[in-house]
This record gives sequence, C-alpha cells and structure tokens, in this order.
Amino acid sequence: MPPNPPLDTAYWQQRYEIGQTGWDAGAITPPLREYFNQLGLPDGRRILIPGAGRSYEAEYLHDAGWPNVLVADLAPAALAALQARVPGFPAAHLLLADFFALESVPPFDLIVEQTFFCALDPALRPAYARQCAQLLRPGGTLVGLLFDTEFAPAGPPFGGSREEYRAYFEPYFDFAHFTAATNSLPPRQGRELFICLKKKDR
Ligand SMILES: C[S@@+](CC[C@H](N)C(=O)[O-])C[C@H]1O[C@@H](n2cnc3c(N)ncnc32)[C@H](O)[C@@H]1O
Repeated sequence: MPPNPPLDTAYWQQRYEIGQTGWDAGAITPPLREYFNQLGLPDGRRILIPGAGRSYEAEYLHDAGWPNVLVADLAPAALAALQARVPGFPAAHLLLADFFALESVPPFDLIVEQTFFCALDPALRPAYARQCAQLLRPGGTLVGLLFDTEFAPAGPPFGGSREEYRAYFEPYFDFAHFTAATNSLPPRQGRELFICLKKKDR
C-alpha cells in the first residue's frame, strides 16, 4: 500500500514549515565530508544532490570551489534555506523538481545520496536505482549513505538491509564500497552503509 499521506510536495513542504525536520544534521556529515575531501581539486565535474533538503553538502562543495553542483528537491522551503545561507549559490543550480523527472542530458559525474532514498516510498527503490544510473555517465559515481536498519513501519524514514539494496543497484553499478560506515554521526552509528557505486559501461 502506498504511504498515507502521500509523500508529495505538500507533505515535504509542510514538514519544513512546521519544523519537523529530524533528518537535518545542521552541517555536512563526516562520511560525505571525508569523501569530498579526497576528490582532488575542484573541476568541471557535474554533481547532483537529489532530495537535497537544506543541503549542507552543496554548501560545502560550493565553498570549496566546485562550480557545477546542482541540487534537486520538491520542497521550495528546502531550496530557499540553501539560497538564504549561500546567496552566491547559482540560482540555476537550484532545481525545484521531482528527482524521477530529471533529464539525463548532460549526464552527471557524481550523485550524492543522504537520507533521500529512505524518505521515498519503498516501492520506488528500483526506480531510484534506475534513475541514478540514467542520470550518470558510464563510470560515474553514486556515493552516499543508506540506512542498514529498520524503522517503525509508518515511515518516512523507511529502513532496509544491504541485501535488499544490493538487488536494486546490481543491474547498473559495480560496487567499490558497500560497507558499514565508520564515521557516521553519533545517532546513526552502526546503522549506516557507506556506498560508492560506479555505473557500468554498458
Ligand atoms: C528526509 S529529507 C533529506 C534531506 C537531505 N538529504 C538531508 O540529508 O538533510 C528528504 C528530502 O527529499 C525531498 N524529496 C522527497 N521526494 C522527492 C522527489 N521525488 N524528488 C525530489 N526531492 C524529493 C524532500 O522534500 C526532502 O527535502
């Protein structure tokens, strides 16, 4: 059965308006900060952060000099928060859009996942993996964190296991990392997988 209420724009916008944003870490999380720090010098790589929320990750990359960071979110309040904190973030890179409707041209080099996958109706998980693959160039990377734990049935968040997730991504990606995160935020410790998946060439 689909979630009730539907997890649509109105639902997410209201979560921001009433301040029910328990997922919001208030800063970039250590696993993503470490990953970004080893990417090397900023260049033209196209980076997408879908379901970005207030997107401290986009802020971090922007401040580090990465010019092609795009964020996508259904909720205007999420994008407005990033714009207010980082007025220099290019307005054209704030996509008020459904991830599943994003265009794959030009393709992305990197997609960043954090508490977006777990926010979706679990029935959309195969489509999430497929859309990530469609948006990436061959060899492109999907990096981020997935919860490897169960939550109360009435999500979001919706939990799951690495065995379940593996089946969604295997058709499209080679697995560089798919292991327990070692540097999660304290409330998430022992409950997150760090994933770094490379889109297959064919
Ligand atoms: C749990 S929040 C996570 C936000 C952010 N990633 C973070 O870690 O703070 C999920 C976000 O995904 C957005 N969202 C949900 N469904 C979406 C969709 N189909 N396309 C784009 N954004 C979506 C929501 O508006 C919300 O901002």
